[in-house]
Amino acid sequence: MKRIVVIGSLNMDSVIETPHMPKEGETVSGQSVTLVPGGKGANQAYAAGILGGNVSMIGAVGNDAFGTILKTNLGKAGVDISSVAEIEGATTGQAFITVDDSGENSIIIIAGTNGMVTKEFIQGHIKRIEESDIVIMQLEIPIETVEYVKDLAVGMGKTVIIDPAPAVADLPDSFWQGVDYIKPNETELEILSGKSMKTLEELKEGAREFLKKGVKHVIASLGEDGCLFVSEEEEKFFQSNKVKAVDTTAAGDSFTAAFALALSEGKSCDEAIRFGQKVSAIVVTRKGAQTSMPTWEEVDREGRI
Ligand code: RIB
Ligand code: NA
Repeated sequence: MKRIVVIGSLNMDSVIETPHMPKEGETVSGQSVTLVPGGKGANQAYAAGILGGNVSMIGAVGNDAFGTILKTNLGKAGVDISSVAEIEGATTGQAFITVDDSGENSIIIIAGTNGMVTKEFIQGHIKRIEESDIVIMQLEIPIETVEYVKDLAVGMGKTVIIDPAPAVADLPDSFWQGVDYIKPNETELEILSGKSMKTLEELKEGAREFLKKGVKHVIASLGEDGCLFVSEEEEKFFQSNKVKAVDTTAAGDSFTAAFALALSEGKSCDEAIRFGQKVSAIVVTRKGAQTSMPTWEEVDREGRI
């Protein structure tokens, strides 16, 4: 099995359940507030780990209670956390998430120690990247760090997957050069490209633009509408598994993780996409980020392989 390294964020999520999102100036009575381990990077590491992958994580937490909980939780999923630093006197990243009755969410993040994952920080963990085969990143750590690691990993011949979330507008073309896979959703594709992505044609064109910038494969996830795969050689559409969403938090993270895990087991790109869809279809039916990630047995039991 190939080795996966996730380089990215760890957050403690404060999740508020509310009947509907408050409008500007409105006060709403919510049902509950819960602390759940999250962060796009940690969610991906956790998801791939609990599915049985050989996974390590590079990132940072503060020397505080949230940091300890986040590291412990990753450890429970079998993730090697020896490259997750505890930074003295700094605070662990946090996310404030509101989930409404339809399962949709909105999120505000406070970077905390995720903002301290700089190039210099990475330089202390190069060996970890060298030892790995598949490198996964998201955009919740400084963007310069992501580009730096990408160049390093591409130079080492690693398979590089970037989940461009949260999306950042106007990234330079150099950012995309040599990336093996990106997995934006429609909204992210709109922000990244500055163009409307309402129709399938617009999506295809938007995805192809990233091929021109040097990305090898684009997987545009369209939630319950399926997902679009675009490369120089082919263009394919994958229908999704219809489920009733309870909480979509971390669905995208679980897709990326399951996709990478399948690749690490030598599965084809098509199989990896289908596996990503199966896992994320389960994740949207459960509450929370890391709390909603299924094990292999659970994916099996639900008859979705
Ligand atoms: O993708 C979901 C994640 O986004 C949450 O866990 C939250 O921490 C934010 O980073
Ligand atoms: Na969920």
